[in-house]
Amino acid sequence: MTSRREALRRLGLAGAAAILPRQLWALPLSSPLRINGERLNATLTKLSEFGRNPQGGVTRLAYSEADLHAREWTMSLVREAGLRTEIDAAGNIVGRRTGTDASRKPIVFGSHIDSVPEGGNYDGDLGSLAAIEVARTIEEHHVDTRHPLEVVIFQNEEGGVVGSRAWSGDLSEQDLANVTRSGKTIREGIAILGGDVSRLASVRRTPGAIAAYLELHIEQGAVLQETDTDIGVVTGIVGLNWWEVTIDGFANHAGTTPMDRRRDAMIAAAKFTLMVNRVVTSRPGRQVGTVGRIAAFPGAPNVIPGKVVLSLELRDLDAAVIASLYDEIVENAKKIGRENGTTFIFKATNANRPAPTDERLRVAIEASARELGLSTRRLPSGAGHDAQEMAHIGPAGMIFVPSVGGISHAPNEFTKPKDCVNGTNVLLQTVLRVDAELP
Ligand code: GLV
Ligand code: MN
Ligand code: MN
Repeated sequence: MTSRREALRRLGLAGAAAILPRQLWALPLSSPLRINGERLNATLTKLSEFGRNPQGGVTRLAYSEADLHAREWTMSLVREAGLRTEIDAAGNIVGRRTGTDASRKPIVFGSHIDSVPEGGNYDGDLGSLAAIEVARTIEEHHVDTRHPLEVVIFQNEEGGVVGSRAWSGDLSEQDLANVTRSGKTIREGIAILGGDVSRLASVRRTPGAIAAYLELHIEQGAVLQETDTDIGVVTGIVGLNWWEVTIDGFANHAGTTPMDRRRDAMIAAAKFTLMVNRVVTSRPGRQVGTVGRIAAFPGAPNVIPGKVVLSLELRDLDAAVIASLYDEIVENAKKIGRENGTTFIFKATNANRPAPTDERLRVAIEASARELGLSTRRLPSGAGHDAQEMAHIGPAGMIFVPSVGGISHAPNEFTKPKDCVNGTNVLLQTVLRVDAELP
């Protein structure tokens, strides 16, 4: 492999210290190394078998049977890539490769393989399999990197970036008690995956403990496709907060209770859902808000619902915007409660902090894409990612590839095989560039 020093000498730039860091990260690196695209796409097809549903996507909820089987297969792939493989105390799959300089912190890259209910075959899968393919390519070509390399498949990304929060130290006792979509608590889930909650502190990485974190992911929106761009360079990842909202009314006979004597929790829930939409859309900005789940109790056609439990989710790049939207929603909920004799209780169930990506990594990704003849565009991520937790530990960067039709968290999520290959080659080149260029 061409070393950074050689590349600089060729360019007559041996006095690299005189170059501004931003310029340094953008210099040509020209590694001829490429990933095996056919192999990458074959592994994507194979992974899609675990938890496959009739619509063509997957339901691979964290801690489910499908998740466990997929993880087992993925671990064998990490081993085949020549990495020392373990399940850490938080239940994440980690594969390690030694660097030539023992004093250096690892370059970490990876993603997740759990899915939402009725999800697709690319969200998380691509970044995970790409990370393994990159490590395998480096191993097969006997490339020595100065930094140790770590491939990580984080557990339960879809339930609130759980595995990466264990690394950043942001997973509380209360989080461990939360029940996930598979019906298990996170504490139970970690044990099921082969982790050990009593040793959770051992996976924690203090700020500065990694040289860099890189994640390839599908865009999950339509910007890249609509602008005919090959590679997205993520500028920042939104913060995301979840609440469980319980609305208490009074269950009563649906035939004999006059309409003006009801304390109907379902009516309050309907008004609440519309109000959330109004509050979120009534100010400028890219903030979003969703009521995505609802359950009415006791849940019979002939009983007025006495209780409704629903979810509220708010996202923005600025945590202060989320906090102020929440305050406005709570105030408005009180008003709805007063109008129809119901009460609202809000319980916070998840909070992921917004995070900007690292400018040097953005530049490195852009330079890597340019050398591969690929176009780039900078854009924020409206989806949550493990990278946002990793950004609290060290520099984090994200590479996006186009999602056809901008569809994601749905069975027909699709990214073209050539885009999967492009993104993985950009990941490979960026890992090598960061390895060569970090001072
Ligand atoms: C994770 O995929 C999220 O943004 O919900
Ligand atoms: Mn997702
Ligand atoms: Mn994802």
